[in-house]
Amino acid sequence: MIRPFAVRIVLVSTVSLALACAAGAQSPSSDAGRQPLRLGLGDLMTAFMQPRHAKLGIAGQARNWDYLTYERHEFEETLTLIERTVPRYRGTAMADLLLILREPVAALGAAINARDGAAYDAAYARLTDACNACHVATDHRMIVIQTPKVSTFPNQNFAAQPR
Ligand code: HEC
Repeated sequence: MIRPFAVRIVLVSTVSLALACAAGAQSPSSDAGRQPLRLGLGDLMTAFMQPRHAKLGIAGQARNWDYLTYERHEFEETLTLIERTVPRYRGTAMADLLLILREPVAALGAAINARDGAAYDAAYARLTDACNACHVATDHRMIVIQTPKVSTFPNQNFAAQPR
């Protein structure tokens, strides 16, 4: 399990290194690559929130409870990462904006613990609704999240594994 802060450091240092190399190629004395890099909310949504939401959907359909236990925790770490990286959005605390996800995420946890597929599906639908509610509230109604119909991760098997 990777701590959110570590993820951020690795991402930032990898991207900074790439930028530093690119800057160096143009002008060896340039300081451009040494500016601290800040990931924006759109980057964090696309890099972390969207794939984790998709995985919770695909593995949920496979009723892969062991994996869902893991991935729901990773999803919570993504929320922490977003809060730390973008503490405020247009003047509102990110932690307050993300509260909209808390109930569905807690309900996913309860459904996973109970191995209750119907409750999981209902909580997952509420999670997806909450994503879209925040997109509407933040003037991004054109970003519409839905339950995944197929896996977008061809190199990962989401089927429950024998214990
Ligand atoms: C705090 C409110 C909020 C919540 C909750 C939220 N989003 Fe977002 N999301 C945004 C905002 C604001 C943007 C646009 C950010 C920007 O580009 O500056 C965004 C952008 C995105 C994008 C980028 C779209 C693209 O095509 O580039 C994706 C994907 C996304 N969100 C997925 C999700 C998913 C999945 C969830 C739920 C698990 C979610 N979001 C929950 C506010 C939210």
